[in-house]
Amino acid sequence: MQASDADIEILDLRHFAAPVLRPLLDAEASIWAERLHWDYRSSVRLLMQYLDNRMLPGYALIESGRVIGYVFCVYEDTKAVIGDVFALPGAQENDTGLASTAYSREVTLLRHLFELLLNSPHVERIESQLLLHPSGLFAPVFREAGFEVYRRLFLVQPLEGRRSQPLVELPPHLEFRAWRDTDLAPAARLICEAYRNHPDSSINDQYRSVHGSLRFLNNIVRYAGCGAFAAQGSYVVADRVSRELAALVLGSRVSERSGHLTQVCVHPAFRRRGLARMMLAQAVSSFLRMGAAEISLTVTEANAGAIRLYYDEGYQRAHSFDAAVWRHTPTA
Ligand SMILES: CC(C)(COP(=O)(O)OP(=O)(O)OC[C@H]1O[C@@H](n2cnc3c(N)ncnc32)[C@H](O)[C@@H]1OP(=O)(O)O)[C@@H](O)C(=O)NCCC(=O)NCCS
Repeated sequence: MQASDADIEILDLRHFAAPVLRPLLDAEASIWAERLHWDYRSSVRLLMQYLDNRMLPGYALIESGRVIGYVFCVYEDTKAVIGDVFALPGAQENDTGLASTAYSREVTLLRHLFELLLNSPHVERIESQLLLHPSGLFAPVFREAGFEVYRRLFLVQPLEGRRSQPLVELPPHLEFRAWRDTDLAPAARLICEAYRNHPDSSINDQYRSVHGSLRFLNNIVRYAGCGAFAAQGSYVVADRVSRELAALVLGSRVSERSGHLTQVCVHPAFRRRGLARMMLAQAVSSFLRMGAAEISLTVTEANAGAIRLYYDEGYQRAHSFDAAVWRHTPTA
């Protein structure tokens, strides 16, 4: 039996303590594991801390006293980032397509959050990357609210049978080495240079400044913002004297069997010399040593050069999802 709309309530997420959402988060974690081979439990732990501190802006969908869906965002100054939306399917239903109950619940939650954010005078920009949800699913809902939508690909490379490859010969002033904590600030400068006029800096405005890139890096490296950072699967090409970086790959562990590359970039002055290919190959060797069976990464569909590189290196498309961006346009 389906619940009628009258049985459904949408309430501020901050009314709820973590244990009430636990069954919902556990159900979501199993979809992350199945679809992306991603252990979502560490994200669940982080989310539960925020929920317990009543710090997470968003909404919960309640049916007969039970939380069956949620959406949340985080604020970064004048930007809001929609972190996730998820709802349980109806009874005896497990599909996630347009016709499913889960989908209509998620759309309802998203629309509530849009209404809140689009009427918050301090919010000048909204970003969202709903990695779990297939590309196209929510695109009309985002577009209808004034967002631009960019398709992104989730690529996976099986590691079995991969062999290590020789290093590229570098000029004497450059060294190829493992990541160090002191690389954070030079890495932020590199990211800012590498993503100038790049589609990804339309999707994530942190890439547009050194300060923003440092925030991005801190989130990945220090706060496990995208899996558990794996220093031993992360490499740089650095100038021996200035310590500035010419290239960088960052790896994380997203499950027992899966590594994920959270960043790959090469300074414009050092491109097309095989640096990215070399770093990808080294990351493969490291993750193999760590016992991983595959590596994944995400790439924007418009980033044709990078996609060519990844396909050439043996990555395959396993999933696609949407990134969406809304910008405040001042009225004259
Ligand atoms: C994508 C990027 C990392 C490639 O770095 P790179 O060191 O220049 O790449 P490589 O020299 O190892 O390229 C290896 C192969 O990839 C492909 N490739 C790389 N860049 C390409 C481009 N701009 N256009 C077409 N093919 C490209 C080519 O097949 C190339 O082989 P070739 O040079 O023999 O033709 C670099 O352009 C970059 O930093 N871009 C901005 C940041 C970015 O998009 N990162 C990826 C985010 S997912």
